[in-house]
Amino acid sequence: MSRILLVVSGSVAAYKALELTRLLRKAGHEVSPILTAGGARFVTKEALAGISGARVHDDLWAAEAEIGHIRLARWPDLVVVAPASANMIARMANGLADDLASTVLLATRAPVLVAPAMNPAMWAHPATQANMAALRARGVAVAGPEEGAMAEPESGPGRLVEPATLAATIGAMLADGPLKGRHVIVTSGPTQEAIDPVRYIANRSSGKQGHAIAAALAALGARVTLVSGPVAQPDPAGVTVRRIESAREMLAAVQAALPADAAIFAAAVADFRPEAAPTQKIKKEPGAPPPEIRLALNPDILATVAQHATLRPRLVVGFAAETETVVQHATAKRLRKGCDWIVANDVSGDVMGGAENAVHLVTEAGVEDWPRLPKEEVARRLAARVAEALG
Ligand code: C5P
Repeated sequence: MSRILLVVSGSVAAYKALELTRLLRKAGHEVSPILTAGGARFVTKEALAGISGARVHDDLWAAEAEIGHIRLARWPDLVVVAPASANMIARMANGLADDLASTVLLATRAPVLVAPAMNPAMWAHPATQANMAALRARGVAVAGPEEGAMAEPESGPGRLVEPATLAATIGAMLADGPLKGRHVIVTSGPTQEAIDPVRYIANRSSGKQGHAIAAALAALGARVTLVSGPVAQPDPAGVTVRRIESAREMLAAVQAALPADAAIFAAAVADFRPEAAPTQKIKKEPGAPPPEIRLALNPDILATVAQHATLRPRLVVGFAAETETVVQHATAKRLRKGCDWIVANDVSGDVMGGAENAVHLVTEAGVEDWPRLPKEEVARRLAARVAEALG
C-alpha cells in the first residue's frame, strides 16, 4: 500500500479523477486529494472526499493551519496530477507557488506523474510543449495525453489517459518487487550524429529491446532511468525517460543519472560522428565534387561507465550486435570494455526492428544460449537475472 497525493486541476476530464481514485483505493493505496479552484469547477469536493475516504485539501491557508503544506508535500510516495490542465502544467514548469497544489508540487521530493488533459490546440501550442519538455527534463513522469473523442469537436492528442491505464501506470511506478529501492540505468535506441542542421548519421535500431528491458525492470520495482535516442516507442510505464540525440548527449545523460546499482547499455550508439557539423546546411554546388565527411570517434559510453573510478554500478551489462562469430566477439568485448555481462545477438537477420531476438548471455562463468524469444521475454529474463545478481 502506498500513499498517493492526487492533484485534480481544471479540465472537463476531472470527473475521471473519481474513477481513478476508486481504482487506486481498490488496489490498496491511500489517496489524499488536492482540488484546485479550476478542478472544483468540474468535480465537487464532496464527491472526491466520498470516494477517497479522505479529507480534500483545497486551500493553502486552511491546509497551513491544519497540517502545513510542507508536511503535506512530504507525506506521499507519489504525487499524481490528473487531470493536469495547461495552466497547471505551466505553473509547475515555472515553479509557481500561488495555490496549495502548486506549492505542494514545488515542495515535494516524491516522484511526480503528470497526466495532461486539454484542448488539442492548447496541447500542441509551443508554450505547452516547452513546459512539458521542462518537466520531463526534471524527471517528471508523463502519461498521455491520448488521441480520441474530446468535449470539443476537435481531434488530436489532448484526452486524459483512461483511469484504468493510469492506475496501471501508477501501479508500475509504485511496484513492489525484488528490485525495489534499486536504481537501474538503461540506454536504448539509435543515436543521431549531425552532419549539418538537417542531416544526420544514424542506424536502424528501433529501441524495442531497450525499452522492453526498462519496462521489465520497472515491473520488478526498480527505479529506472531510460536514456533513449530518437525512437517511435511509447515511454514505458513508470520509467523516467531522458531523450537525447547524439552519443555525446547520451553519455552526459547517463553520467547525470549516476549513481546506479546496475546499468544496461542496449542502445545502438553510433561509433563515429561527423568531425565538424556546420551550422548551415551543406550546399550542393553545381559542378563541384560532393563534400567529404570526416568522421571522429564517439565516446564509448559502456566502457566509460564500466571503467568509472568511483561511480561504476555494481552490475554493468553491454550488448553486442554481431553478424558473425557472435559469441567469440562478445567474449572478447566483455573483457575489453570491462563490463560484467554481454548480451550477444546475431543481427544478420531481421533482429533490428523485429519482434524477436535470439541472444547469448556471456558472463564470467561462461556462455548461455537462450532460445529465440519475443523481445519482451528476453527483457523479462534479463530483468530477473539482474534482480538475482543484485541480491
Ligand atoms: O563496440 P560495440 O559498439 O559493438 O559495443 C556495443 C555495446 O557498447 C552496446 O552495449 C552499446 O550500447 C555500447 N556502446 C556504447 N557507446 C558506444 C558504442 C557502444 O555504450 N560509443
